[in-house]
Order: sequence, then structure tokens, then C-alpha cells
Amino acid sequence: MNLELATTTFFLVNFCVVIATETVKKPHILLILVDDLGWSDVGFHGSKIRTPNVDRLASDGVILDNYYVQPYCTPTRASLMTGRYPIHTGLQHRAVLCLTPFGLPLHFSTLPEKLQEVGYRTHIIGKWHLGHHTSASLPTNRGFDSFFGFVNYGRDHYNHTHDGFLDFFRGEEVTREYHGQYATHLYVKEANRIIAEHNSSTPLFLYMAFENVHDPIQAPDEYLRKYKIIEDKKRRGYAAMMDIVDEAIGNITAAFEEKGLWNDTLVIFSSDNGGDPVNRGYNYPLRGYKRTLWEGGVRAPAFVYGKMLIQKGVIVKELIHVTDWYPTLVRLTGGTMDSSDIPVDGFDVWDTIAKGAPSPRTEILLNIDFPEKRPGLLLTYDTWYTGAAIRVGDMKLLIHVPNATWYQTPEDGGIAPPMEDIWDQKTNIVELALFNISADPTERHDLSRRNPDIVRQLKARIHEYQKTAVPPGIVPDDIMALVLAMKNKAWIPWRNTCNAR
Ligand SMILES: *[C@@H]1O[C@H](CO)[C@@H](O)[C@H](O)[C@H]1NC(C)=O
Ligand SMILES: *[C@@H]1O[C@H](CO)[C@@H](O)[C@H](O)[C@H]1NC(C)=O
Ligand SMILES: *[C@@H]1O[C@H](CO)[C@@H](O)[C@H](O)[C@H]1NC(C)=O
Ligand SMILES: *[C@@H]1O[C@H](CO)[C@@H](O)[C@H](O)[C@H]1NC(C)=O
Ligand SMILES: *[C@@H]1O[C@H](CO)[C@@H](O)[C@H](O)[C@H]1NC(C)=O
Ligand SMILES: *[C@@H]1O[C@H](CO)[C@@H](O)[C@H](O)[C@H]1NC(C)=O
Repeated sequence: MNLELATTTFFLVNFCVVIATETVKKPHILLILVDDLGWSDVGFHGSKIRTPNVDRLASDGVILDNYYVQPYCTPTRASLMTGRYPIHTGLQHRAVLCLTPFGLPLHFSTLPEKLQEVGYRTHIIGKWHLGHHTSASLPTNRGFDSFFGFVNYGRDHYNHTHDGFLDFFRGEEVTREYHGQYATHLYVKEANRIIAEHNSSTPLFLYMAFENVHDPIQAPDEYLRKYKIIEDKKRRGYAAMMDIVDEAIGNITAAFEEKGLWNDTLVIFSSDNGGDPVNRGYNYPLRGYKRTLWEGGVRAPAFVYGKMLIQKGVIVKELIHVTDWYPTLVRLTGGTMDSSDIPVDGFDVWDTIAKGAPSPRTEILLNIDFPEKRPGLLLTYDTWYTGAAIRVGDMKLLIHVPNATWYQTPEDGGIAPPMEDIWDQKTNIVELALFNISADPTERHDLSRRNPDIVRQLKARIHEYQKTAVPPGIVPDDIMALVLAMKNKAWIPWRNTCNAR
């Protein structure tokens, strides 16, 4: 009888456990961010660049059609990590550059920290670009168990230098052993190792922050040869770089499958900002490019894949923003949101993606960034201001934005613009423009004159947001960064205090 009772109890307990774990079943998460990937540079948006692995996942998953990011790398990454708009992270204007003693503010909890709290092993491979002035700002002190990659941007893909010095870390140590090897191949090897060594009973978070397809445009010959049909040499290089990303995703997918993790893996794929036609990334038919608040700068190619999605093979047209991943993934994994004074701007969009529910998000602040006085020595200072923009429902208002045009790819008869073209457009300001993005996604018909009421409403929303903005985290360059880079022949944290580590 005792045994019978024990057995019953065992089954009951077990039954409860099954129910409990079903509701908080923690998926493995593969978060893929491709650097500077243009809207139209993926197969599933009609590109001549072949991306079969990406396309398969996209078409078996949920393609996000009204998904927005920030117009630059660092602000997008900060929003991804914290769920906050750039006006709340202090990154509304400037990228973190190699001499900048600023990064992702330390008072925010990060997405990987939240995932660690609920039992995840967390890894970042590739680009950090959220500050490296102190060890405390490096990924391994911001929620990642491991880091293999770099902290700046635009490295040489073979010798891994940025502005003359090596930028390559394993954890918090500079690694000098990979000279001459193409970075993305190294990242795939690292991912394969992490997946193979992963304890399958623990949830895995792998953040693949690809270095491709950011300039310099470089790719091994075997990939370049596949794009002989593209005459423009730089565009051919860019196509080859995206081809490598696609192959990398195929390889990483296979590693997940081999390990038996794939059925429980959620994949998120996104670009960090629009393509830059100077470096041969294209967003056509969208208007504008990286650095701008036109659709080509902020509307990114994206999809979600995973067997746990209830709906599959669909296109979601609801509004989703990069800040939404933080609350969505925290909620999905049974975590708790942090109680910072600065509330999370993102929404939990899981039901929108997985089940086709309407988005809880009705508007997206795209940015607020106007010229103002800047302090001190700013050698590397970026003088490009995005202006302001907001999307509310179908409508989008832009205020004081650099005028930007449409660029079609060279292989489709378009041109490869010189930097001066883009720079000219920067000084040619559009003061105000209103578009119905649902009806006119390519932003050709300014409706501001005909709809003064809508203009007034959207302006009021921007002003409401502006009241909550933190000052831009712009600080003078610190020449000590360079002094230490020269001494160490590598970019390293240069403002460490005894207890920073
Ligand atoms: C790395 O490559 C760049 C060109 O992309 C070159 O200017 C630089 O000298 C190289 N540095 C080293 C250390 O090889
Ligand atoms: C993918 O795997 C194949 C086979 O191991 C390898 O040759 C190729 O270099 C890998 N691709 C990347 C981008 O790492
Ligand atoms: C894997 O993780 C589980 C749960 O934490 C643990 O019981 C087990 O010992 C681990 N296996 C290995 C090989 O480390
Ligand atoms: C994954 O799912 C497929 C189809 O449901 C099944 O055949 C396969 O055994 C599963 N693999 C693992 C490792 O659970
Ligand atoms: C902005 O650029 C477009 C396309 O090149 C042009 O038609 C328009 O006149 C420009 N607007 C302003 C305000 O300069
Ligand atoms: C915007 O366009 C959509 C689609 O054509 C239409 O349904 C909607 O009424 C328009 N909204 C406004 C405010 O004009």
C-alpha cells in the first residue's frame, strides 16, 4: 500500500512538474543580427543574392513586414539589449567609437542577464559595439558567459584591425592567434564548438552578431566567383559576404540539429539598420539608407522561426520594434522585468508573432536627434543628425530629416553612389513630411499639407516622448584610448579601476 501510495504520489508530482515545465518551457534562442544588411538584400525580399538557408527559415516561420530598428548600429544593439528607445539609453545620436568613454549605461539590466537569471547559458559571437572603455562594459560583465569577437566596427575581415589596431577578444582577453583567417568562418567554428559542448538540459542563448555584411567589403574568392554576373566589383563582394552569412546560418542550424536542440530552438533574424549603398547595401524600393529615418534606414528584413510557433508560413504586418525582443523573451522564458526608473519601451509581441494576434504596439518612436552644442574634444565625432520620426498606425511623420533618395541595385540597373551623394543629401533638409506607410511604403507622396490634424497629433506624440528623453550620452573623446591601444597593439578597456573587473 505504501508503495502504491508512493507511486501515485510520484505520478502526481511528475504530472504537476510536466504541466509546470510545459507552461514555462524555455526554448533555446538563436538571435541573429546581420550588420548593415539592406531590406532588399535577402532572397525572401527578391534579391539576386542567394540566401537559401535564410529563405527556408523565413518561409517556414513568420516574416515580419513592419519591423523597425534604429538607423545605426549601436543604438539598435542598445535597444535590443535593454528594451529601451535610444532617447532612454542616451544613444539617440552617436555610435560608440574607438575613443568614446561611453557605452550601454550600467544601470540597465540586459537581455542576457535576464536569461541567466532563469537558467540560460549565454554566448555572444561577433560584434559588441556597446562600449569598451572599462572591463565592466564588456559583454562578459553584461550578461554573457562567453564572448568571442570585437568591440568596434568595420574591422578588416582577415587581420581583425580597426583603425590600425587589433580588435579581437576571447572573454576579456585580447586574442592574437587568428591573423589572416576570415572572421565569419571563425565565428561559425566557435558557434559549432559552443553548441557541441552545450549541456542539452540547460537552455541556450546564442547571440550571433555577424560582422558581415559591414564594410570593408572582403570575401574569399570561392564566394566571389558565385557572383560573376554582378559587374560592380564592390556589390559582388557584398553579395559574397551575404552568401557567407547564409552558409554560416546553414552550418549553425545543422549543429543545432546534430545536437538534438533544433526542435526546441527559437530563431530571430534581423538586420541592425538599413543597407548603405556606398558600401553596396540596398533597400530598394524603400527610400533612404543607413543613418536615416526613412524606411530604408529603419525598416529591417526580419523573421522568426521555431517549431513552437502556432502559425507558420505567414507574413505579419503588425508593428514590431527592436525594443520588443527584451520583454518578449523575458516573458517567454518566465523571467521578470527589471524595475528601473526608466520603463521598458518594448512590448511583449509573442502572441502577435506566434498566433497572429494584433500587436499591443500601436506606435513606434523612430528617433529624436537634433543638432545641439557638444562638449569638449570630439575628434571622431559624427555630425550626422537623424532628426525625428514617429510611426503611428499607418502614418509616419518625419521632422527635420536629411533628404534621402531611392537607390536600386547595380544588377537591376541602379547606381552605386559615391559618398558625396549621400553627404549632399545630408545638408538638404526636409523640414516636415507625412506618409501613409501602409498605402505608400516607399514614401513618395507627402501628405502633410492635406492632413494638418494628423501632423499635429503626431508632433504632439514626439513632444511627449521628448519630455522623457535622457541627455545624449555624448562625451569628449579620450585620447588615452589611443595611447593604450598603441602600447598594447590592440584596442582594450583603458579606464579600468581596481574593482571594475
Ligand atoms: C590590416 O589590413 C588593413 C587593410 O584592410 C591594412 O591597412 C593594415 O595595415 C593591416 N594590418 C595588419 C596589422 O596587418
Ligand atoms: C560551413 O561548413 C562547411 C563544411 O564544414 C565549411 O566548409 C564552410 O567553410 C562552413 N561555412 C562557414 C561560413 O563557416
Ligand atoms: C547537465 O545539466 C544538468 C542540470 O543542470 C545536470 O544535472 C547534469 O549533471 C549536467 N550534465 C553534465 C554532463 O554536465
Ligand atoms: C524533432 O521533431 C521531429 C518531428 O516532429 C521528430 O521526428 C524528431 O525525432 C525530433 N527530434 C528530436 C531530437 O527530438
Ligand atoms: C528631396 O529629394 C527628392 C528626391 O531626390 C526630391 O524630389 C525633393 O525635391 C527633395 N526635397 C527637398 C525638400 O529638397
Ligand atoms: C492609409 O492607407 C490605408 C491603406 O490604403 C487606408 O486603409 C487608411 O485609411 C489610410 N489612412 C489614412 C489616415 O489616410
